[in-house]
Amino acid sequence: MRRIEFFDTTLRDGEQSPGVALNMEEKLQIARQLEKLGVDVIEAGFPITSPGDFQAVSIIAENVRQTTIAALARAEAKDIERAWEAIQKAESPRIHTFIATSPIHMQYKLRKNPDQVLEQAKFAVELAKSKVTDVEFSAEDASRSDVEFLGRIFSIAIQAGATVINIPDTVGYAMPDEFAAFVKAVMERTKGIEKVKVSVHCHNDLGLAVANSLAAVRVGIHQIECAVNGLGERAGNAALEEIAMALHTRKDSYGIETGIVSKEISRTSSMVSRLTGMRIQHNKAVVGKNAFMHESGIHQDGVLKERSTYEIMSPESIGLEMNTIVLGKHSGRHAVKQSIEELGLDVSDNRFEKLFEDFKILAEKKKIITAADLFALADTQHMTEELSLDYWQILSGNNLKPTATIGLWHKNGDNDEELVKAAYGDGPVAAAYKAIDKIIGVDGRLLNYSLQAIDSGEDSQGEVTVTVKFGDHTVAGRGISTDIIEASLKAYLHAVNRALDKGWISVKNREKQNI
Ligand code: KIV
Ligand code: ZN
Repeated sequence: MRRIEFFDTTLRDGEQSPGVALNMEEKLQIARQLEKLGVDVIEAGFPITSPGDFQAVSIIAENVRQTTIAALARAEAKDIERAWEAIQKAESPRIHTFIATSPIHMQYKLRKNPDQVLEQAKFAVELAKSKVTDVEFSAEDASRSDVEFLGRIFSIAIQAGATVINIPDTVGYAMPDEFAAFVKAVMERTKGIEKVKVSVHCHNDLGLAVANSLAAVRVGIHQIECAVNGLGERAGNAALEEIAMALHTRKDSYGIETGIVSKEISRTSSMVSRLTGMRIQHNKAVVGKNAFMHESGIHQDGVLKERSTYEIMSPESIGLEMNTIVLGKHSGRHAVKQSIEELGLDVSDNRFEKLFEDFKILAEKKKIITAADLFALADTQHMTEELSLDYWQILSGNNLKPTATIGLWHKNGDNDEELVKAAYGDGPVAAAYKAIDKIIGVDGRLLNYSLQAIDSGEDSQGEVTVTVKFGDHTVAGRGISTDIIEASLKAYLHAVNRALDKGWISVKNREKQNI
């Protein structure tokens, strides 16, 4: 059977989604899960863009050994050198270099003529090939490029040593039938095409990224680039889980095999959603909360009689059965550890002790601890926080100005310090956020705030996600607690800590205040 390779770009294109700012530990955690999911290639980042990106790609290259690790580089020497430095320790490294090929991009963005672009592509692939055997070449904005020109540039790239050529629909402009014909035409015009793998990379601006990728499968491509939950620039990339389940469910139509372990899909999707703070819409295909729910009486009746009446795939096939795990305040170390292992969570022995302590505190407040609670607890063990919540006091009511006093611990080398400020605002959460802004000495602009229960039941924990703008940078944060004010504070602090970690802000106001 023909096999399609999955090239996952959650950590590169996905990380370019507005609001997503993963730290190194979070990226490594996701990369390890992608390895379990069975992707063939992990695009771990774009090393030239920042020291943080460089470091994350290097750490992933050293630690994730079963999967090819790719690093992105523009078709420029400094990018390629940096990409190579970052991935050189990988078991199976790949340099992914790109240059734009559409008339619009060449004229306005690159200010180069087509011959100069051909020259630069040749130079870039040759340089990459002098470092590593596996070289991918992408023609950015390919779907709006001239098909003859693409044939020329890909032929040159192959001659220079490319092993994979990638045809991106960078702006999500293509239509499925048209894209399939286009990919076929490009392949027909490319010399040496039989020696390389052909790949597509589709964006979702018109909601067609998955459809376009699947259409390209029909004309003989070998690799699909995609991201978990469809993360990526603007409307995102093709959603990995949708392509995987389409190929799996409709094997009769495509006759395609993949390396994806479908039972890891649900776990991977929720991990990416939790760590990025990017919520999944409830009616999202495959991984949305409602994807396997049947509401109408007729449907429920049908499913009770025979599931296949309304289910084309089972929740178990994407690993949803794990939600049955239930613990309580009498559960001991052993039971908690076993549940953590069953959920495939990555918690080292020294982190487990802290997790168990947090579990006991939570179990005092909440009768039933579910899989969603365990996921939430495990995530917090990976957070590296410069600022953490010590205490909060809020005064609120319908006849007074809501006022908040917030105490934070600031990790400051050997001089940990407590920082305290008070503020008032339009509501209790606004007052608390203002007090935090006073502590850090930077005004965050709250772009988005949402609150929901992490699972069903009256005592479910509240999950708050926020998107905050600090200067030119947007970061998402997520906080969970049995108290919604505390969840709100944790979410804001999560965003603040990410911005601190990225070096986008620093704690300017270190003076202690006596209130
Ligand atoms: O969308 C795009 O064209 C890209 C390339 C770098 C492959 O992300
Ligand atoms: Zn892209």
